[in-house]
Amino acid sequence: MVYLSNLSKCTLKSMVYCFLLIIIYVSLHSLFENYILNFAYHSATNSIFSITKRLRKPQSSDLKYILLWSKYSHYIQFKGGKVIHPSLKCSISNCVFTKDKGLFDGDYTRFDAVLFNEEILLTGNKPERRVPLQIYVFNALESSYTVPACKPKHDGFFNWTLTYRLDSDILWSYFIVRNLKGAIVAPRTTMRWQRSLRPVDSKIKTILAGKSKAAAWLVSHCKADSLRDEYLTRLQEHLFHFALKIDVYGKCTHVECTRGDCDEMIKKDYYFYMAFENSFAEDYVTEKVLHGYENYAVPIVYGGANYSR
Ligand SMILES: *[C@@H]1O[C@H](CO)[C@@H](O)[C@H](O)[C@H]1NC(C)=O
Repeated sequence: MVYLSNLSKCTLKSMVYCFLLIIIYVSLHSLFENYILNFAYHSATNSIFSITKRLRKPQSSDLKYILLWSKYSHYIQFKGGKVIHPSLKCSISNCVFTKDKGLFDGDYTRFDAVLFNEEILLTGNKPERRVPLQIYVFNALESSYTVPACKPKHDGFFNWTLTYRLDSDILWSYFIVRNLKGAIVAPRTTMRWQRSLRPVDSKIKTILAGKSKAAAWLVSHCKADSLRDEYLTRLQEHLFHFALKIDVYGKCTHVECTRGDCDEMIKKDYYFYMAFENSFAEDYVTEKVLHGYENYAVPIVYGGANYSR
């Protein structure tokens, strides 16, 4: 009954803050005490495993060869380096995951699967020959609004999809949610969040008690198509009446903070974190949401996904 004791301390003036506090307790409750959140790197590793498992070969002992076709790949980006990270090789022994196009003297048809990313939609750069047994995989993490794949020439080109969309053949979401036993519970098309919640830990209460500012927004992409800037302006006008405001950081406002400093600041000062996506697309939820939770701030979401799952 933490909420009630806090509520009784409310004066009329601080009513809004108390209201916010209640939401925070409820929301942080459910995530911090009952679930564990993981960043997408997990999905990258897992996807190779899933592809390998789905590829059929007569002998289970046969090596399965997977070629990373696009020059810049999400797999490489996620490691921030040029080489594919060793842990991204198959977690089971019978696969070769490589970006070395020269492996079979340039005969790409010898690969069991070829992985393309959004780049192919723009450049059209693809292997000259393909064979029926070979699987072409489309890997996309950019929103389908930003990089749509709906030209007729792409019809029937890919065999499998590997994207953040929940209806992908293989799912690569920006983050996953596990229960306390470690099992992945979200995102899922049919999601059931736990109803009985454990009480808030004193460590979290201390962090929350130190906060004093309403909301922060970190943004690097200034004029997004989702009109989030316009939305924010209107929100600010309303909040002004309650003496609240959203502090905006990043390139667009020239009030900058480095990644680590931003995190510290959000954790220390802010109740809410604006997790505004740059475009609206089905299932498109990026790590911004996680950024809020990681810093004990409730994400305020704005995007095209069904956030309950
Ligand atoms: C992959 O897609 C191509 C093009 O549609 C098709 O010809 C081929 O049979 C498919 N391969 C498999 C194994 O499904």
